[in-house]
Order: sequence, then C-alpha cells, then structure tokens
Amino acid sequence: MDVDAPRPAEPGLIDRFGRQAIDLRVSLTDRCNLRCTYCMPAEGLPWLPNSDVLTDDEVIRLVRIAVERLGVREVRFTGGEPLIRPGLTKIVTEVALLEPRPTTSLTTNGIGLEKTAAALRDAGLDRVNVSLDTLDEDRFATLTRRRRLPDVLAGLRAAADAGLTPVKINTVLMRGVNDDEAPALLAFALEHGYQLRFIEQMPLDAQHGWDRATMVTAEEILRDLQAAFTLLPDPVARGGAPAETWLVDGHTAVGGGPARVGVIGTVTRPFCGDCDRTRLTADGQVRACLFATEESDLRAALRGGADDEELARRWRVAMWGKRAGHGIDDPSFLQPVRPMSAIGG
Ligand code: 5AD
Ligand code: SF4
Repeated sequence: MDVDAPRPAEPGLIDRFGRQAIDLRVSLTDRCNLRCTYCMPAEGLPWLPNSDVLTDDEVIRLVRIAVERLGVREVRFTGGEPLIRPGLTKIVTEVALLEPRPTTSLTTNGIGLEKTAAALRDAGLDRVNVSLDTLDEDRFATLTRRRRLPDVLAGLRAAADAGLTPVKINTVLMRGVNDDEAPALLAFALEHGYQLRFIEQMPLDAQHGWDRATMVTAEEILRDLQAAFTLLPDPVARGGAPAETWLVDGHTAVGGGPARVGVIGTVTRPFCGDCDRTRLTADGQVRACLFATEESDLRAALRGGADDEELARRWRVAMWGKRAGHGIDDPSFLQPVRPMSAIGG
C-alpha cells in the first residue's frame, strides 16, 4: 500500500486503505437529558455555544452535499440526545426528500420517543436504535443518574407501533453494574421483537475513566448468552456493519425469520478494515473516525461562503486522510479530546 499516493479523482469518500464511506452519522446536539456514568459526569459538560452549532438549514445543506456529491446512502442522526433538538422533524423531512433517497435512522436514549415516534415516521425516518443498559429501575437510575426507565420502555413500544423497525437496542455492559444482565436483556428483546446489540465500552468517556482491564469483552458477553440460549452462526454476511450477529435458536423475529442478537466488539474484535462511516459533529466538523484526533472544519468554510463543490472537496480530503484503524491497543493511543456525546455514536 502506497500511503503517499495522490488521491484519485473519485467523487466518493474514499481513503488510502481502499474503503469508501457511504454511511453518515450526524450529531445534532452534544446535550443530553441523561447522564450515563460511562459517558458524562453528573454535572454535564461544557456544552457547545449555540452559535457554534449548525443551524437546521446548515445541517440539511451538508447532508445534501454528502448524498448528492459524495455517495452517502445512509444517514443516522445522533447526539448527545437528538430528540431534544427542536428542528429534528424538519431535518428528517428534508433529508428523506433527497435524491437518491438515503436510508434514515436515529440513535436515541428513547426519552420522548413515545410522543414523537409516529411524527418521525411520517417525516420519513426509517429506523431507530434505542440505548438501554438495564431493565431494573434502580440500576437505571444509578447508571443514567435519572429515574426514567418507564419513559424508555414506552419509547421502544411507540417506535415498534409506528413501524420504525427493526427497533434495535444498544447495550453497554459495565463490570459490577449490569454485567449480569445480558441474558435478561436478550429475553426481553426477544419477547418484544427488538433486535439487541451489545457494544463493548470504548475509551470515549468525558471523564477518561475507561479501563481495558475491567471492560466487559465480547467474548464474555457471548459466553453468558450461550449459557442461556443456543446461538448459531448467522448465514447473512456482515458487510460494513459493526455488529457480529448470531441467530437465537428456537426464536422467531417479529415479521418472521430467525431472531438475532449482535455484539459490537470495537475494542477486542475491531472491524476498522470494513468501516464505511463518516461523521459530522453538531458544530460542523467532519471526523473520519470516532477515534480521530483531527477534524475538518466545514462550518467555517460554509459560513465563509464556500460553494457546494468546495465543501464536497474538503470533505473528500478529510476522509482521504482516514487512518487504517483506531489503534486502541497501540502504546501511543490517545483518547480523542471530544467525548462520545460530542462526536455522535
Ligand atoms: N462506549 C461504548 N458505547 C458507548 N455509548 C456511549 N458511550 C459509549 C462508550 N464509551 C453508546 C450509548 C449509545 C450509543 C450512541 O453509544 O449507550 O447506545
Ligand atoms: Fe446521553 Fe447517550 Fe451519553 Fe447516556 S450515553 S448520557 S443517553 S449521550
């Protein structure tokens, strides 16, 4: 691989390692109404000033450029908590009208979804991922520092009723907190027809408290699941998807076909070689990776009067510089300055 080779004149978001980003994650706010201990301190974080956050029209313009000029085919809205962004429905509506129409989805903590699911579906949202780490009210309150479990469960139901399917659940297990809950969470997901995926905890917390030695690994999660369920290899290819999936023997998904469970082993089973993602932060910075240490400032260019092609060109240059992998295991690994809540999941 000649990593110094010049970038070929390709319209898409290619990089030096033969990958192409077609999946855009857009963070719509760095704020959140929960305070998950693995994400934020109790008092919250110094939020981005409103003037730095892209306006709805600026977000829509950048997503349009990504879809029309850069080959992006899937747009996921994240946060912080994207449901607290007032312009969310408008943004979803405009993005779903782009040509070629991208797939649209939302990663949310589920609070407020009960009231908004149907409207989001009408606006053109295809799917949701809801974060849920425990089914126990007290644990939920300890983990998120808010007593809101019933809101999340109601949000999940509303999403399924509105047809935002398959409804996926993201779970992070933490040692000594909820690491015994994998089988119970899977039983719950199977009962309701939600697709559960466990995510290994990543070094992206604002407090820098992540510790590889105590992290609950993909291997452990699978061992615990296999003690209660029979997992079979999934015949469907994984493609660029981060989750490795298994079929849960004897269980059927809502709408037919076998039920599945996924594990995203970012740390112990990295999938960087197949990564097809590009990221835009709420303040208009392109990031080639969650763990990137560099960003490309599209907001300054946009507010400085750059035309669509110039913005597209900058985005291409940013992605051409994408590193081969996250390097969490390198001795020289440095956690990015921005925490997960300011990058988008
Ligand atoms: N490691 C792994 N997952 C995380 N999330 C937030 N912070 C971390 C972390 N440090 C999850 C949330 C949500 C998704 C956006 O990412 O639980 O499901
Ligand atoms: Fe909010 Fe998600 Fe962070 Fe929890 S993990 S505090 S829900 S942004």
